[in-house]
Amino acid sequence: MNYINSGPKKAAITGLGAYVPKHRLTNADLEKMVDTNDEWIFARTGIKERRILKGQHKPTSFMAIKAAKKLLRKKNIAPRRIDMVIVATITPDMNVAATAAQVATEIGAVNAFAYDIQAACSGFLYGMSTASSMISSGRYKKVLLIGADKMSSIVDYDDRATCIIFGDGAGAALFEASDSDYGWEDEYFRSNGSGRKYLNIKAGGSLLPASEVTVENKMHFLYQDGKTVFKSAVSEMCNAAEKIIKRNKIDTNKIAYLVPHQANKRIIDAVAKRINLPSQKVMNNIEKYGNTTAATLPLLLNDYEKKLSPGDKLIFAAFGGGFTWGAAYLTWSY
Ligand code: UT7
Repeated sequence: MNYINSGPKKAAITGLGAYVPKHRLTNADLEKMVDTNDEWIFARTGIKERRILKGQHKPTSFMAIKAAKKLLRKKNIAPRRIDMVIVATITPDMNVAATAAQVATEIGAVNAFAYDIQAACSGFLYGMSTASSMISSGRYKKVLLIGADKMSSIVDYDDRATCIIFGDGAGAALFEASDSDYGWEDEYFRSNGSGRKYLNIKAGGSLLPASEVTVENKMHFLYQDGKTVFKSAVSEMCNAAEKIIKRNKIDTNKIAYLVPHQANKRIIDAVAKRINLPSQKVMNNIEKYGNTTAATLPLLLNDYEKKLSPGDKLIFAAFGGGFTWGAAYLTWSY
């Protein structure tokens, strides 16, 4: 572990890697599984297809490892130089054993410590705060943050309210001290535990341990009251993004991109409209991946990486189970 106590520095994202499984679950496929249709799904969510991790013994870490290895290869960094691995996920390989520890070991990050963050769809956003704090405090030099979820492992493919939305994927970002003045600028995060009745997995935790009854009643699948989650997501993502923009006195014309969690195209459009951003300044890939929970933000960054330049002002916004939500401001560093 490279403990460097060199004082406050700005943290920057200095590299990206991503992985999505090959198998595509299209709206046409879903038409054969539940009472739905392509027109409804596309009009109500903006999704055309999602990726699904097929095959036995392929957990979330399978995708996280692929994304991390791609990043290390691209950056030509020896894994032993990584100080810390954080995995944001709601679909860990196992309860108790941290998925991040498995990822760190498999990529050869032998000098790293590793743990998971669970904040549902806000997991990567919150993780960026942790990663950048670890860097800007001067405590560590290289922090690998991965957002990864195998949503297909907790989705009920008989439930049309959830199975049309979610997909599998992973994205990784490296945080290092910025060698310019660009990097993590500001964050506004909140949570509200009373929202947990609207978006949850009811059983399998300490509140309701697994039993025959919980299995029979499908209580290990993801449940959501879509309408309530939708309304809360729109209002909180809008408020958080506005707060960040206002208090940093950012001229909206100078924003390069809004980087919104990909839950529903209509939520994304509402946030963009509220902060007055045209669609070409809104990162968007929901059409091809659906909602990959903790992976949406790094998958977006990875898809748009080539379009980004040093100094680009990015506004992140996310909302998820808990409820958890927030917005952040980052200036791109490369
Ligand atoms: O990632 C963070 C957490 N998740 C989210 O942010 C997701 C938030 N919620 C949503 O994205 C939306 O609420 C959904 C996409 C889940 C649902 O869209 P909606 O516009 O809120 O639909 P609804 O639940 O109000 O249903 C409208 C109608 C209903 O029919 P009636 O009662 O009007 O006749 C539903 O039964 O659409 C029907 N419906 C469907 N029809 C075809 C609901 N799901 C489907 C479906 N296919 N899959």
